[in-house]
Amino acid sequence: MKFTDSPVIELTVNGTQLSIQQDNATMHVGTSVWPCSLVLAKFAERWSTVEDSSPPSPNPYAELLDFRGRRAVELGTGCGVAGMAFHLLGLTEIVLTDMVQVMPALKHNLKRNKAALGKYLKTSVVCWNNRDQISALNPPFDLVIAADVVYIEESVGHLVTAMESLMKEDGAVLLGYQVRSPEADKLFWELCGVVFEIEKVPHEHLHPEYAYEEADVYIFRKKAKSESE
Ligand SMILES: C[S@@+](CC[C@H](N)C(=O)[O-])C[C@H]1O[C@@H](n2cnc3c(N)ncnc32)[C@H](O)[C@@H]1O
Repeated sequence: MKFTDSPVIELTVNGTQLSIQQDNATMHVGTSVWPCSLVLAKFAERWSTVEDSSPPSPNPYAELLDFRGRRAVELGTGCGVAGMAFHLLGLTEIVLTDMVQVMPALKHNLKRNKAALGKYLKTSVVCWNNRDQISALNPPFDLVIAADVVYIEESVGHLVTAMESLMKEDGAVLLGYQVRSPEADKLFWELCGVVFEIEKVPHEHLHPEYAYEEADVYIFRKKAKSESE
């Protein structure tokens, strides 16, 4: 798995190279690229149905990763690499969100990759506990994307509520995941189990060069109303 603490992380997606400048020296986790985001992006690329791609057949993710006409939001985007990768895979209606402190690093990287992306992607300040910021995104979305966002126990409840309120009834969450805190991990899965049907992507479906034991990709769908009540 190619992950490095060098100042620049490069990731080729659908034939286009993204170049993300990270700053591991700052105290904010959002200014670094976290490896789950690369695992999630390359999983999506492997099974992507974007023109010219040739995913393995049969493709269990064909419908999920057919992004035509879909709208998406990424939570806790950090430097924005997952959102940018999904854009290159045809998910052109995507808004990248994070806390205000992370916006300079995100905006810098969006400018840096503007030529590769063909445009400057939408961004929005969204804290998971801020209902006004969530409503301002104009939900619901077909897809909610997130990578490596479960590490603070106190914010787990807000994260799960934000995911649920942002997605359509028939939408999906695509999550790159690694255990960062046992307490946050436990609470996250307890809360998710109440509202979502949870599908874990088998490790052999991840991109072989972008997979490591501790990282997983999950797909969440809303439970039917009567099941979760
Ligand atoms: C470990 S970083 C992962 C960043 C990026 N997704 C990646 O994988 O490279 C976690 C991200 O979640 C964001 N985050 C944490 N708590 C948040 C909250 N309560 N509201 C909004 N964003 C939050 C952080 O600012 C940070 O960018």
